Amino acid sequence: DQRIDISLTINGETRALQVAPWTTLLDLLRERLDLTGTKKGCDHGQCGACTVLVNGTRVNSCLVLAVMKDGAEITTVEGLASLQGPGSNALHPLQEAFIEHDAFQCGYCTPGQLCSSVGLLNEGHAKSREEIREAMSGNICRCGAYTNIVDAIEDVMQ
Ligand code: FES
Repeated sequence: DQRIDISLTINGETRALQVAPWTTLLDLLRERLDLTGTKKGCDHGQCGACTVLVNGTRVNSCLVLAVMKDGAEITTVEGLASLQGPGSNALHPLQEAFIEHDAFQCGYCTPGQLCSSVGLLNEGHAKSREEIREAMSGNICRCGAYTNIVDAIEDVMQ
């Protein structure tokens, strides 16, 4: 059973891990580290439910192998509050906005929507509703809460 040593900083905590070369970042987070906030929808890069931040950039964690991200900083939905400062329990402004705008129904896609929208905020280019909608088009919501999701993101972008 071949294992490879990697180091990842996950939600601010650096961890030494031994992983099989075929383990996806998504499976590492969910199955090994119990960070089950990140969801597995399609496992094929089509739904966005598994979106996390890798060095501040949004990534479909089902599409990357954990070994490819050796040395990276990973932020999952569980760690978004920590972006507000070390040891912070304050929700990220986008989390607050999702609550305020009722930007979910069943909630399954929400961790991915949140991580993707934080990544979009980092990218800094989406301003109009149309641009936000386009930039978020990789995150599918089967309940169709798109209007409220865009409302929440627009609120924070302004
Ligand atoms: Fe990764 Fe659907 S589970 S994109």
